[in-house]
Amino acid sequence: MTMVGWFSKMVVATTVRMPKWFVRWVSRRYVAGASLDDAVAVMKRLTHEGACFTIDVLGEEISSMDEAQFFLEEYIRVMEAIKTHQLDANLSIKPTAFGLLIDPEQGMANIRRLVKLAAEEDMFVRLDMEDHRVTTDTIDVVVALHEEGLTNVGTVLQGRLFRTLGDIDALETTLGPAADYRICKGIYLEPEEISFTGYRDIVDATNAAVDRMLDAGAYVGIASHDQPVIDYALSALSSHGMGPGVDDPRSNAAPARHHKGPGYEFQMLLGVRGPLRRRLLSEGHRTRVYIPYGEKWYEYSIRRLKENPTIGTQVAKAFLLPWTNRP
Ligand code: FDA
Repeated sequence: MTMVGWFSKMVVATTVRMPKWFVRWVSRRYVAGASLDDAVAVMKRLTHEGACFTIDVLGEEISSMDEAQFFLEEYIRVMEAIKTHQLDANLSIKPTAFGLLIDPEQGMANIRRLVKLAAEEDMFVRLDMEDHRVTTDTIDVVVALHEEGLTNVGTVLQGRLFRTLGDIDALETTLGPAADYRICKGIYLEPEEISFTGYRDIVDATNAAVDRMLDAGAYVGIASHDQPVIDYALSALSSHGMGPGVDDPRSNAAPARHHKGPGYEFQMLLGVRGPLRRRLLSEGHRTRVYIPYGEKWYEYSIRRLKENPTIGTQVAKAFLLPWTNRP
């Protein structure tokens, strides 16, 4: 076993016993900080590179609607900060943090309230995709809001799920060119009855979803740090005539909206593959950084590590081979 492999196993095995300072040290790179001010400071710094942002208030699955109220209010503060500091940023929210699982009606009302307020500022809201228990509900929220005239909202689809291509086709019918996606592999290790589990299958399925979204005329946020996904997306974009500095030539596409460019963008997590992101930026691609912040940085870091042990490898690499994955 390689040194990185051994260290990665150790990181996962000792997660719950890790001293808080070590988790903080590791997460400092991936989490902007505990407060909104920390997130604003990071975005101001990265704005000089030409990046744009999506902001995530960290939280665990909630157990009471009071907590949902906290998230709603915090995101309203985030919107104010985006305006005050004139940041090129939008919002990423977790539907369960707004109450979708414990009180679906109130959860929907909370999300609607935020999306409505965002619409008044022409700001976009992305519904992050959580595990398969809420895939359908999350998509349904987006469709319902569009039907109410709130089109500044879109969802995430996960390449690893078998259902994803079908979801894109269904959303093409209901939303047409107003569909606005983030496509990623999917962080949750889903059962093999409903998802691909092998690396190559997940990459191929994610790439197929990129194609299907581009064909449908949708706005596509390609969220990956993986070279085969990025290379595939670049060639799919070029075969659709899309790329830096050109208007979206797809006859079925909507005009650029909500302060985004034409048709697509790349998205990466804060602290991951900075050099690759900066290369895409220097080639003229719109590149958005996902900025998580919040008091729950510790719980978030531990949960992510337990949910998907491959992150142990990233931590090990960051620790032992920092030059392979600079922020
Ligand atoms: P892969 O995991 O193969 O990584 C490629 C390389 O990138 C690694 O070798 C490593 O060097 C680096 N790397 C990747 N992840 C890293 C990390 N966390 N820390 C350090 N280095 C890392 N998932 C989901 O289910 N729902 C969602 O809503 C979202 N939202 C989302 C937004 C954005 C902007 C991104 C980039 C990702 C997500 N994801 C997500 C997570 C996504 O589904 C996926 O789990 C991760 O991006 C890892 O997959 P990659 O395609 O990056 O490849």
